Amino acid sequence: MKKNILTGLRPTGNLHLGHYFGAGENYVKLQNECDEFFLEIADVQALTDNFNNPDKVQKNVYEITMDLLAIGLDPKKVTFFIQSKIPEIAELTVFYSNLVTVSRLQRNPTVKNEIAQKKELFGNNGESITYGFLGYPVSQAADITVFNGNTIPVGEDQLPLIEQCREIVRKFNSIYGEVLEEPNPILSNNKRVKGLDGNEKMGKSLGNAIFLVDDEETISKKIMSAVTDPNKIKKDDPANPDVCMVYYYHNLVNKDNLETVCQECKNGTRGCVACKKELIEKMNEFLKPIKERRKVYEDNPELVKEILEEGSRKAGNKAKEEMSKIKEAMKLNY
Ligand code: TRP
Repeated sequence: MKKNILTGLRPTGNLHLGHYFGAGENYVKLQNECDEFFLEIADVQALTDNFNNPDKVQKNVYEITMDLLAIGLDPKKVTFFIQSKIPEIAELTVFYSNLVTVSRLQRNPTVKNEIAQKKELFGNNGESITYGFLGYPVSQAADITVFNGNTIPVGEDQLPLIEQCREIVRKFNSIYGEVLEEPNPILSNNKRVKGLDGNEKMGKSLGNAIFLVDDEETISKKIMSAVTDPNKIKKDDPANPDVCMVYYYHNLVNKDNLETVCQECKNGTRGCVACKKELIEKMNEFLKPIKERRKVYEDNPELVKEILEEGSRKAGNKAKEEMSKIKEAMKLNY
């Protein structure tokens, strides 16, 4: 069976370590192990909760594309495209909206969480939820299937959306015939990355993220303020690395020296300041090649536009092909 990868990102901000270790690192590996790789910059999806901020979405289409190129995605292997350039996605969303109930969407755990977090936009109890936001999983099912994506590399939070897509696919096939393939999610090993404050999740809105574009001064400030073992008072007190965010990030970017960091922390021969300084250095080393690759695109923004235009053209052709099969099955082939 062919391995057709499809994944997407909402362009609402720059990539942080959570995105990188949760998904991006996996994309870089997978680009060499697949038949096709479509990467959607999901601007239409981003508008579902940023409809009042179109400038932010447009700016981040370019920002996030540069971040993705910077982590090592090769536009020769990965087709970058902009969601709004593919009208078939919107068309298919309308067809799929008949195959899912409103209550099923309201029970989707990811959607439920997001509604709860966006009180300002959707009200304290989700009473002002928009039709568009509630329906974005349907649109995501259209993204996936219109590119015949069967392999979906994502972070853990996306699993309920992939499950929702699988249900729509089964429903479609049971009514209109076996046309669509059920997609399978694949998770990277690290899954979720914790925040600088020890929160289970790193997130822009949580203010606890290290971004790939952070400069050295920012990295230094953020790491110096990271949460460490609260029971360690003096420099030579023994401490517990398992409750320390500095140790946690050593485990991501300083694997070679991890055992030493762990032992010295436990037996009290490693002070937190020295430990943080070592992490700052390793973090900067880790980010250096990423920033160097990014700079080429920052200096030549027309390259980024070309990649998106060429990719959107290629994606458009693929979507047209798949759409004609879908319309035929639905007796919409006039
Ligand atoms: N929902 C994803 C996010 O918030 C973005 C996305 C859009 C996506 N379309 C997709 C992910 C298709 C996987 C497959 O980041």
